[in-house]
Amino acid sequence: MDKLIIHGGKKLAGEVTVSGSKNASLPIFVSTILAPGVHEISNVPFLRDINTTIKVLETLGARVEGNGNVVRIDTSRVDNHEATYELVKTMRASVLVLGPLLARLGKARVSLPGGCAIGARPINLHLKGLAAMGADINLTHGYVEARAKRLKGARINFDVSTVGGTEHLMMAAALAKGETILENAAREPEITDLAAVLTGMGARIEGAGTDTIRITGVKELGPVSHRVMPDRIEAGTFMIAAAITGGDVRIHGMQLEHLDALVFKLQDAGVEITNKDNVVRVRGPRKIKSVNIKTRPYPGFPTDMQAQFMALMCIADGASVISENIFENRFMHVSELLRFGADIVIEGNSATVKGVKRLSGAPVMATDLRASASLILAGLAADNTTEVSRIYHLDRGYESIEKKLAGLGADIQRVKE
Ligand code: EPZ
Repeated sequence: MDKLIIHGGKKLAGEVTVSGSKNASLPIFVSTILAPGVHEISNVPFLRDINTTIKVLETLGARVEGNGNVVRIDTSRVDNHEATYELVKTMRASVLVLGPLLARLGKARVSLPGGCAIGARPINLHLKGLAAMGADINLTHGYVEARAKRLKGARINFDVSTVGGTEHLMMAAALAKGETILENAAREPEITDLAAVLTGMGARIEGAGTDTIRITGVKELGPVSHRVMPDRIEAGTFMIAAAITGGDVRIHGMQLEHLDALVFKLQDAGVEITNKDNVVRVRGPRKIKSVNIKTRPYPGFPTDMQAQFMALMCIADGASVISENIFENRFMHVSELLRFGADIVIEGNSATVKGVKRLSGAPVMATDLRASASLILAGLAADNTTEVSRIYHLDRGYESIEKKLAGLGADIQRVKE
């Protein structure tokens, strides 16, 4: 297993380019099951989760060329309706193949994803929606077994805003008979990107990006070429890297409008953010001001930026309260941040962070994807040396982050444990 060694205290400066979005790529890859033919997806990040998704598609009968940047997916011969536990347990988003397999083959047997470090991550709303569309759903031996001659349009109202649930049912509805209405749908930009892909395949979708999405099912869909949107969470992570080191960084290839909630909070914290000719410049202040945040569904403050923002608040002037309202266990990074000398107290779903003058480098352990990022950010700001172990979590969602940070002047290297 690899680890990262960081010698902190360097101000980051220079240019960095954001890769394509992991959380847009995964459902987009899955959606190709709906449309037999050769799809060309570009701006795909080189990530472990992309490789896992490719493996899932290949077990279903697809042929895939490439594993990053430009990926060609031929789904003409998708004929296997089963996604095994071995595959789904490594990446929960694989469960999204259920609806497309049902729509394409009339049946599917997909392992339940199980929980993960940040929460139970149930898929009850996915299954409830598919059942409302006429699927016959059985849960046996940890698998979802589903059948449907042809799904039919339904009116579905989500109890909670669910990104995966919205994506899942939008895909299933694309080939259903009649109209499906998704109410209280999630509004994340990744959903809008998926809707663009489905529309390119010939689907009829209105309202993606709002909380009510109407899908009029069609008989068949065809292959598509699509350039994946930039990864807004990777972009936000680099913005905080600039802020936490008091640096001056220019970020290329990001869409600033996807991060309004984060931008407003960073500006409240004294960070200077300007956007000129599609290059976002981020300058960290001498002293960070403390700011409270509450994570919310988009366009609220993204839960995927909570851990990174907490690292920034560890060296802010004053106290900040960070409330995590999306997942029930997304403070795993706190115990590791305390090892840097941070002052954080958790009460229920809120953490109170009292800023300290300096963090001091320490050996720490990554527990989940975004927690790993927050430990790297703390290491960049801390004095002396930080070692981050178990960085396989990091490789799921960040493309060569150590190279990109080194390109900005960070003293960071990857070594074998
Ligand atoms: C997506 O996960 C993202 N993953 C997550 O990013 C992100 O944190 C999350 O959306 C929220 O924005 C991908 O897109 C691959 P949800 P998802 O369904 O779809 C509850 C990262 O770091 N819920 O929006 O699984 C659920 O328990 C990852 O890149 C149900 O109760 O999230 C949670 O509390 C981490 N029943 C809330 O909804 C359901 O059927 C939001 O979950 C579905 C969800």
